[in-house]
Amino acid sequence: MSLALEWAAAHATVATDPKTTARSASALHEAVGATITGDGIGAARAMELFDEVLLPATRSSEDPMNLAYIPAAPTRAAVAFDTVVSAANVFGGIWENGAGAIFAENQVLRWLSDLLGWPEDSAGVFVSGGTTGNLSALATARDHALRTRGRRPEGGWALACASTAHSSISSAARLLDMDVVTVAVDDRGHLTGPALEQALEADPRICAVVASGGTTNAGIVDDLGPVVEAAHRHGAWVHVDGAYGGAALAAPSARGRFDGIEQADSFIVDPHKWLFAPYDCCALIYRDARPAAAAHSQHAAYLDSIDRGESNPADLAAHLSRRTRGLPLWYSLATHGTDAYAQAVERCLDSARTVARAIQESEHLELLLEPELSVVVFRRPGWTPAAYRRWSQRLAAEGTILCVPTAFQGEVALRLAFVNPSTDPQAVIEVLRSTMLEADGA
Ligand SMILES: Cc1ncc(COP(=O)(O)O)c(C=O)c1O
Repeated sequence: MSLALEWAAAHATVATDPKTTARSASALHEAVGATITGDGIGAARAMELFDEVLLPATRSSEDPMNLAYIPAAPTRAAVAFDTVVSAANVFGGIWENGAGAIFAENQVLRWLSDLLGWPEDSAGVFVSGGTTGNLSALATARDHALRTRGRRPEGGWALACASTAHSSISSAARLLDMDVVTVAVDDRGHLTGPALEQALEADPRICAVVASGGTTNAGIVDDLGPVVEAAHRHGAWVHVDGAYGGAALAAPSARGRFDGIEQADSFIVDPHKWLFAPYDCCALIYRDARPAAAAHSQHAAYLDSIDRGESNPADLAAHLSRRTRGLPLWYSLATHGTDAYAQAVERCLDSARTVARAIQESEHLELLLEPELSVVVFRRPGWTPAAYRRWSQRLAAEGTILCVPTAFQGEVALRLAFVNPSTDPQAVIEVLRSTMLEADGA
């Protein structure tokens, strides 16, 4: 036991190695062999294998120069408290078992609800990630439509979203047997009220609209106010996917982009993305949680004695047993204060703006859009897709920067996602300046 605890204590303060990377299962098998054996291999050997072979075969998502996908930057307080949550092993599904821990999680959800401008009785739950959060919210929306409209429409239910919505939305639609109506975006990439209005008029099966509070690829926030108005005019539920970008609600310089979110029906944000919490943590919040409880509450002889007058997180998403995974964020927020969070998110926004400006001023680079949040999308005119790949792989192997190619408006491009306040924008600019001059990305 002490070996694992000592490792966790030491690791909570150590910087991660940017050169670590995946290896093939066969290479790992050769290095590790069979670890699950009749007699066990012993704590010392298991710890040694984890430290020396298994962990180095994972990618460091916390390195300040990891700007690929959506990286992570949990505070040391949150990482340390994650081990406390494991040791406390609280059942967080129902109030009766987890009251104190759920109370603390709910204070964090209240902070988020205040940022949304939602009423006192809005409520939510921490689930494992954005995919589960989106699925649970859309299951609520579909169930609510059935209850209020009385029956399933001819041809089944549909949800509407832009083509830029996250892949987890079409996955949720598949699981919920809903069709996806893809609404055209404007020339800046936003889902707008008029385009949505047309789609809603054309297809009365649409019972839910998903708006992005920061697209993954480009950090675009849909036109939330007009989208909410159009959806509500047609009796459709509005879910805002802020898995990545929702953190920017905390930043005064970006809050205006979310105007209109006050009237949306459900919302997610992943604190493991840009609110400095470790995996896995998604806050799912409902402006009015009653439809969620109607959709998700589980009933059984042994469950029906629980006090439904208290906060029972199991009632608000597709789960029953749950780890109180909101607590690392609670501890870190309680320790550092919400002002420090606002400043840290602002720092990331500022880094993105600084790097975007440098790209715009550079002769050999092209900024593809002004960042709305903290994603910068750009290209190196003249480079082929192979040149982008070579450049990206070489710098990843050297541990210099992690930046992988994407596609933007049909073209290969590069994207940098700033969610780590320790990232030095000048270091990023220097890497781009010094490595992107070569005409072939070599
Ligand atoms: C906008 C958005 N929604 C949903 C998700 C899915 O979140 P998760 O990976 O936590 O399931 C992501 C992940 O990057 C995302 O960026």
